[in-house]
Formats: sequence, C-alpha cells, structure tokens
Amino acid sequence: MASITIRNLDEATKQLLRERAAHNGRSMEEEVRHLLRDSTQAPASFPAEPAIATVSPEIFDPLELDGKRILLIITGGIAAYKCLDLIRRLRERGASVRPVMTEGARAFITPLVVGALANDKVFLELFSREDEQDVGHISLARECDLVLVAPATADFIAKMALGIANDLASTIVLASNRPLLVAPAMNPIMWAAAALQRNMQQLRADGVHVIGPMRGEMAESGEAGTGRMAEPLDIVAAVRGLLAEAPGTISGPLTGKRAIVTSGPTHEPIDPVRYIANRSSGKQGHAIAAALAALGAQVTLVSGPVTITDPPGVLTVHVETAREMLDAVEQLLPADIAVMVAAVADWRASGEAGEKIKKKPGEAPPPLQLTENPDILKTVGHHAKRPALVVGFAAETQNLIDNAKGKLQRKGADWIVANDVSPAKGVMGGDRNHVRIVSRSGVEDWPEMDKTSVAARLAEKIAERFETTEV
Ligand SMILES: Cc1cc2nc3c(=O)[nH]c(=O)nc-3n(C[C@H](O)[C@H](O)[C@H](O)COP(=O)(O)O)c2cc1C
Repeated sequence: MASITIRNLDEATKQLLRERAAHNGRSMEEEVRHLLRDSTQAPASFPAEPAIATVSPEIFDPLELDGKRILLIITGGIAAYKCLDLIRRLRERGASVRPVMTEGARAFITPLVVGALANDKVFLELFSREDEQDVGHISLARECDLVLVAPATADFIAKMALGIANDLASTIVLASNRPLLVAPAMNPIMWAAAALQRNMQQLRADGVHVIGPMRGEMAESGEAGTGRMAEPLDIVAAVRGLLAEAPGTISGPLTGKRAIVTSGPTHEPIDPVRYIANRSSGKQGHAIAAALAALGAQVTLVSGPVTITDPPGVLTVHVETAREMLDAVEQLLPADIAVMVAAVADWRASGEAGEKIKKKPGEAPPPLQLTENPDILKTVGHHAKRPALVVGFAAETQNLIDNAKGKLQRKGADWIVANDVSPAKGVMGGDRNHVRIVSRSGVEDWPEMDKTSVAARLAEKIAERFETTEV
C-alpha cells in the first residue's frame, strides 16, 4: 500500500496544504486524509460534510511541533481530564505523544481513551516483563524530546523533589536527561502548603521548568484560588518555547545563570468584561528575554496579556494581573538575574464585581475605587532571595532621570532602564526605544535604536557585569 510522507512533498505543495489545513483547523495529516477521501467518494452516495465539523477555532501552524516526541506523564489529579485536550492539541501540531499514567491517573481517566487520542500504547507498569523487554523504562525516558508531567499532583511533585522512583512515571523522570516541564494542579490550600512550596523550590533549583498553576475556579464547587492547571494551549506554547531551542543549552557568557524577565501590561478586572490596562505591547521585555537566552541564560519570561508570540528558547508563563505576576515571579526565586520590564498597573479596582456592572438610565456613573497593587520590582529588590542583579524599567513622561534615580533607591534595584513614554515618542507599542541606564555609578545615554538592539546591548551589559564582578 502506498503511503505519503508530508515532509517529502515539495515546498509549494506543502505550503498550500499548510494553509488549507490551518483554514479548516485540521492537522496536515488529517487534511490529506480528507482530500483523499473526498476524491474517492461518489458525491451522490455520500452526504456533504456538515458545515460545522470538529474544527478548532484558532489558527496555528500544523507543523510547529513537527516530529517532536513528547513523553506525557499523567498523574492522579482531577485536571487529568484536561490532558485529553492537551494530547489533541500537541498532535494536531505535528508532535507525537507517548503517554504514561500513574495508578492515581487511572482513577480519573482510562488508558483506553488516552491511548485512542494519543494513537500510541499507554505505559502503566514498571514491572511489566513485556514492556521492559520491548521498550523499557530507560528507553521511554530517553526516546523523547521532552518529558511533560500534566497534571502534576502534589504527591508526584514531592517524589520528583526527593528523587523517589517507585513506579514507572517517577522512575522515568529520574532516568531522563531531557528537558522536563511540569504543570502542577491542585487545591489552592495544597498549593500554598509549606511542604509543597519547598518541593517546588527544589524542582526549580534542579532546572525543572514549571508552567502554572493559574488562579481561578477549581473543579470542586465553591473553591477558587491558585491551583488550576495551566490551559492546554498555554502548555503547548511552553512546549514550543522549550523545544524551539532547549533553553539553557545554548553556550554563552550567561550559561548556568537563571534569569526572570517580566513583560507586557497587566489587566486588572473591574467586572467580568472590563479591566484597567495600559498600552505596553511586551515587545521590549520579550526581546530582552530572547537576548538573555541567546547568551546562554536559562530564562523564564512572565508575560502579561500581549498579542505577540512567545520568544524562542525561553519558558513563558502567562499571567493577567499584577498579583498573579508577583506570585509567578516569587515562585521563580532564587535566580541570578531579574529584569522587570512589565508595565505593572499601579492600581486595581477595589472589589471586582461578580457580574457586569449595568448602566442604569438616570443614574450617575458608578464610582471606581482603586487599591494599590503590589510593587513587584520593590518586592524583588528587597527579597530574602534577591537575585544578584536586579534591573527595573522606568516608563516616565517627565523628569526622566530624577524619577529613575529615586526609583533606583526606593526599589532596591541595581540599574534602572529609563525610557520616555510620552505619546510623541511612540515608545509604548512602537518598535524603537531611547533608553538611559541609571545606576549608582552614573547615567549612560544610549542612542535611539530598535527594541531588539536595546535588548541585545542590555544582555551584553548584564553578561559583562557577571564577568567582571563576583555577583
Ligand atoms: C477526587 C480526588 C481528586 C484529587 N485531585 C487532586 C489534585 O487535583 N491534585 C493533587 O495533587 N492531588 C489530587 N488528589 C490526590 C491524589 O490523587 C493522590 O495524592 C494520589 O496519591 C496521587 O497519585 P500520583 O501522584 O501517583 O498520581 C485527588 C484525590 C481525589 C480522591
């Protein structure tokens, strides 16, 4: 029987197929199957395909994870059901997914459905004579490009932190030398527990990449807080970022250094549909994250809501509010470098209305009471786990240098990158920037350049600082 390998098609055909597949929300493989089926079916004997099929609304590149092999470990949390969608999202982007399930996971979803979606055997037991002869736990641990644990239970995180290997999943994790991405999911009280947080610190120190958990409603009714597993598409984006160029594997002057970069605006909800925001695009922060990664740093970018794509070679954590951004940053400490570029909203609405605030005829507009948001730069600058180098950004419209000098002192930063964001300068949302680097030793005025060049020069300056100073 003949077979078609998409990779072997000529570029023009591939491009046509890619566009057609993206338009129909299918993988390229599925699109080929549809085309072949349509061409061999007699139209009279088969009804036309319904207008609404199983089409994903979002447009994506069906080759963005082409050929990537993901070993997905599913552990026993209530969010296990979400990994069914995750498997689909990974596969429609060209990745293959080899599932491993803990005994706990099998209490929530069946290997049958996982295997059907993954189109692969589901590995369950460590002491399986058949599997050990056939594939073996060491091969499972190595024959992949990335190990993803989603959802990761408190129990599994504890095992990972201690190096316990008493079932197939935990043995694979210990035996793997591949990048490891973990998506924790649990009740907010479990997430906040001191023991769990200690284990998370250990995982981060061991170089494990972490996405989430997010704030929001829990599956258990009436529970809300931080503990929800990151959404499947956000996990896919993190996988893409990690596999684009395995972070921390580039060799450069910042190899071995861990950096946190914040970027973009924050959105502070007023009610379910309205929020307070600013015009930050995230271009400068994202470019700095990419520039640090290009010099070898292991970078985690904490991004507010932006429309630009996650930078390659960087793990991106998506947040919405200032409080979420602070949570994410504190969880990433300790680190060597913090570059706080995000334009964090100074204030949020005092109480978020549960329902959309209605306009009532004849009534005065509702008053908007504001509460101060946490100061992320100041928190990091005075933190017990303060990074050796703390860089803040000051977006000012007046008294640029004086304000930046004041900020340097108050926030406990080493450098402040000051930029004039007056509307006439077009910095917010634009592609160019004119910055001054304010430190205790003086002010450097850099010429206006594009944001990528500002990022590259700043990353070089950071690398020089680590070369010349014992920080
Ligand atoms: C209904 C139910 C829901 C649970 N949800 C979670 C959860 O979301 N996160 C978590 O860490 N543990 C959760 N647990 C506890 C784990 O299932 C338990 O710790 C189990 O030992 C995990 O096994 P594993 O880590 O080997 O998969 C839940 C337990 C039950 C009974």
